[in-house]
Amino acid sequence: MKYIIGNWKANKTVDEATSWSDQFSQIYTEDPIITTLASKEMATVIICPSYPHIPLLVDLETLDQVEIGAQTVSSYAPGSHTGDVTATHLKGLVSYVIIGHSERRASHNEDNHEVAAQIQQAQEAGIAPILCVRGPEDTIPESVPIVAFEPVSAIGTGSNMPVDEVLSVKQTLSLPENAAFLYGGSVKPDTAAAYLSSPEIDGLLIGGASLDPESFIEIIRATAQV
Ligand code: PGA
Repeated sequence: MKYIIGNWKANKTVDEATSWSDQFSQIYTEDPIITTLASKEMATVIICPSYPHIPLLVDLETLDQVEIGAQTVSSYAPGSHTGDVTATHLKGLVSYVIIGHSERRASHNEDNHEVAAQIQQAQEAGIAPILCVRGPEDTIPESVPIVAFEPVSAIGTGSNMPVDEVLSVKQTLSLPENAAFLYGGSVKPDTAAAYLSSPEIDGLLIGGASLDPESFIEIIRATAQV
């Protein structure tokens, strides 16, 4: 089983999110390759919009093998933390949350300590963290079920890291024994299969190419080619 995760980042209006959802749902249910993939549980698709768009997309969870995730979570428990979105808020809305994306590490100064606290909050609420790491410098707590290696040089640059390099970096990471290992960074429909065909790579985290439902579906479809 491969994970295909879409990270919308801070993109889309309400109307755009709704129309993405309608188009995705239509193609997902009508495409025979996707239907087969879903019925054989060969792919788990996780779509991560920004918070206000989560309620617009929750109905997609009725599709086989489709889940909704958030893009970050507060490191605090519920209480006096104006503006924070806690894991308790998200409970019942999402099953997954991206934590430690390099963009948050850079622009919100999230360090390993902050990231560990977010992971703890998510797991206490029963939400599975998808931990993003830039390389061996980022700590991976033992409890993390999904780790996405995302080299900063590859994110949003169009310059995806070749599979053999991804696999050599994988050797340097202290991955928990049963954690799924994902790659992310400028993966497009024409490059997805190369990663997915490696038994060492359990899926992909997709930014730019997840914004268009057709290119995202094309990447999901690539799990059938492997
Ligand atoms: P990208 O983003 O696919 O646009 O490079 C990946 C990510 O940052 O998760």
